[in-house]
Amino acid sequence: MSLMRISNNVYSVGVMAPLVRKEELIKACPYGTSYNSYFIDDRKTAVIDMVYGEYFDDFLYNLGLVADIGAVDYLILNRIRPQHSESLKRFLEVSPKTVIVCSALAKDLLDNIINKPYNCVVVNNGDKLKLGVSVLEFVVQEGIAPDAMCTYFENDCVLFSGNIFSTDFCEPKVTDQELIFEKEFMTELSDYYSCYFSHCKGAVNGLLESLAQKQIYYIAPAKGVVVADRVDVVVEKYKSLGKAENTPGAVVLYASASGCTEALAKGAKEAFDEKNIKTLLLDMSVSTAAECKKAVDTADYIAVGSCTVHNNLPACVWNALSEINGVHSGKRFFAFGSYGWSGEGADLLNDKFAKLGMTSVCNPVKCRMVPTQTELNSIKQAVDELLNT
Ligand SMILES: Cc1cc2nc3c(=O)[nH]c(=O)nc-3n(C[C@H](O)[C@H](O)[C@H](O)COP(=O)(O)O)c2cc1C
Repeated sequence: MSLMRISNNVYSVGVMAPLVRKEELIKACPYGTSYNSYFIDDRKTAVIDMVYGEYFDDFLYNLGLVADIGAVDYLILNRIRPQHSESLKRFLEVSPKTVIVCSALAKDLLDNIINKPYNCVVVNNGDKLKLGVSVLEFVVQEGIAPDAMCTYFENDCVLFSGNIFSTDFCEPKVTDQELIFEKEFMTELSDYYSCYFSHCKGAVNGLLESLAQKQIYYIAPAKGVVVADRVDVVVEKYKSLGKAENTPGAVVLYASASGCTEALAKGAKEAFDEKNIKTLLLDMSVSTAAECKKAVDTADYIAVGSCTVHNNLPACVWNALSEINGVHSGKRFFAFGSYGWSGEGADLLNDKFAKLGMTSVCNPVKCRMVPTQTELNSIKQAVDELLNT
């Protein structure tokens, strides 16, 4: 993000990073990204959001064009990452009197990121900070990310939204006023939401409601494009992404090299069908990790099965399950699988889902090679356990 005056008192001083292709191991960035930072000029001055360490020199150059960098009063952090460590330390070296403003949990994390004393003010939801004529209000992102908050700048109607409304997107211009690749920008807005917020839609919806009363002319996120011309479009997109999806009821995930585990999976599906539970049967050897994650995220009941290969799960199963996370802890599941002699596959699935905080309703259902009718009956019993516990 190059230097640009966004509104009366707000300058963007962040840095464009068009060549970044992956963030935090989990997010693809086909369009690059930007690490945003903003400067508010008033009797007292504030920097909002910070770039990652490798971009600090460019940030400092931008900031120096509009600010007395040794005398910034506040550094407001809407979002905290370990990647900020070097920048924060260097910033406090050049401006040692700066007071960091952040949420309570962010302070806890910052102590372990800066690793030395610093001036800090912890703010709660609704707290205000007066810079002169300018007034900032803090909106803590309850239930979204424990450290995160938004900062609303009443005078210029700017929402510094942190992670919310962020994109990994990088165009030559800072704002969307001369946006070239509009379709790609909207796709990326959805992808970012899906990566970081699909597990906490209710909390994001709540945040949108609490912001609805505020006049917003600019959305200035921690990453990506500053939104000026499309504030309503972007907010509506978030609302539509936040709508509850039709739950499939149950999902049966399986991987089977020679059909035995598949027979158990089909037995499980039949048992759900008999109870009129809408069920998705998903073959992990051909489904993407994103498809498996979505299926687990939206399902009420989960059955997961695999054969054993070389005392392990096949690599395709590890890959297919790689994006499932622990934010849905409390869901119920059972594991199953066919094996030849040692049978670790179903146990590994059982352990993995339990470690993610889900509750196993019974011991893994296993069969040696081709399932017998008795073993198929065990699968039906496991489905009953799942539905009745
Ligand atoms: C290359 C290979 C390695 C195997 N390794 C194991 C193993 O380590 N332990 C085990 O219990 N079974 C092992 N098996 C046996 C399979 O798990 C067994 O044939 C099972 O019935 C296959 O189930 P599926 O039809 O669902 O693929 C192996 C089979 C193959 C082909």
